[in-house]
Amino acid sequence: MTTQQAGQLVCVGTGMRMAGQLTPISKSYIETFDVVIAAVPNIFTRQWLQEIAKDFICLNGHYEETKIEGKTRRDTYRRMADTILTEVRAGKRVCAAFYGHPGIFACISHMAIADARKEGFSAHMEPGISALDCLVADLGMDPGTRGMQSMEATQFMIYQRTIDPSAMFIVWQIGIAGDLTMKRFDTEPAHLQIITDKLAKTYSLDHEVILYEAATHPLEQIRADRIKLRDLPRTPLKQYTTLVIPAEKELQLDQAVIDQLNALHASRAA
Ligand SMILES: C[S@@+](CC[C@H](N)C(=O)[O-])C[C@H]1O[C@@H](n2cnc3c(N)ncnc32)[C@H](O)[C@@H]1O
Repeated sequence: MTTQQAGQLVCVGTGMRMAGQLTPISKSYIETFDVVIAAVPNIFTRQWLQEIAKDFICLNGHYEETKIEGKTRRDTYRRMADTILTEVRAGKRVCAAFYGHPGIFACISHMAIADARKEGFSAHMEPGISALDCLVADLGMDPGTRGMQSMEATQFMIYQRTIDPSAMFIVWQIGIAGDLTMKRFDTEPAHLQIITDKLAKTYSLDHEVILYEAATHPLEQIRADRIKLRDLPRTPLKQYTTLVIPAEKELQLDQAVIDQLNALHASRAA
């Protein structure tokens, strides 16, 4: 692949909390590139980006298009990626800014980078601080202790997946769980009952789960509500709530593998 075209794309993450969670390298792209194109929900973060960018385009208006008959969030994401590509094709150095990590549950950045590279433009992603990073810090839950599974709520609902109850399970987008229309930005108790019933095949209904919301500015409190799994359908959720299911079962030793490793060690020592 050659990268000889004049335009350039870098996708950066603003972190979850305004300004303070942005890496220095991402900030320098925001300040120095020709245009910043942002898909960032927090109005204060958007205003701050607009102040420090040379030129600024907000992508949020494209979400309105989901109200058009026949259009879904998938079309919106495609249009957002196309808006980014239009500026790159015009020969500009484009910094596309997304909240959190730009590549975690953020298909627009992946689409835009793949398309730009296909057309011969230089394109890459800088990592950012995601909701998961904040969750680990705020809840003090180390993914290394028991392992971690991470999945989108509706994907978990509609596909046959095997969940390991001895590792923690992070369920993203629980606030829009069960939306097959790809048009809604909320969920309903009936949808949450369906995911609760599916989770109950792996966990007891009395298992304690956590509804987590990271703070998005320094004065905001985090949400870390601990509820029983059975109460999930009746608990108010935001579009940005993440469901955390701590491990319920103890780790089970795999004695056959331990025996193999001990035999290997013994044969080396002999
Ligand atoms: C489209 S994804 C975007 C994730 C984002 N790119 C990141 O790096 O965290 C949206 C989902 O991220 C999680 N999320 C976003 N904002 C959050 C917040 N303030 N607290 C907890 N989880 C959040 C929720 O699961 C939400 O449904």
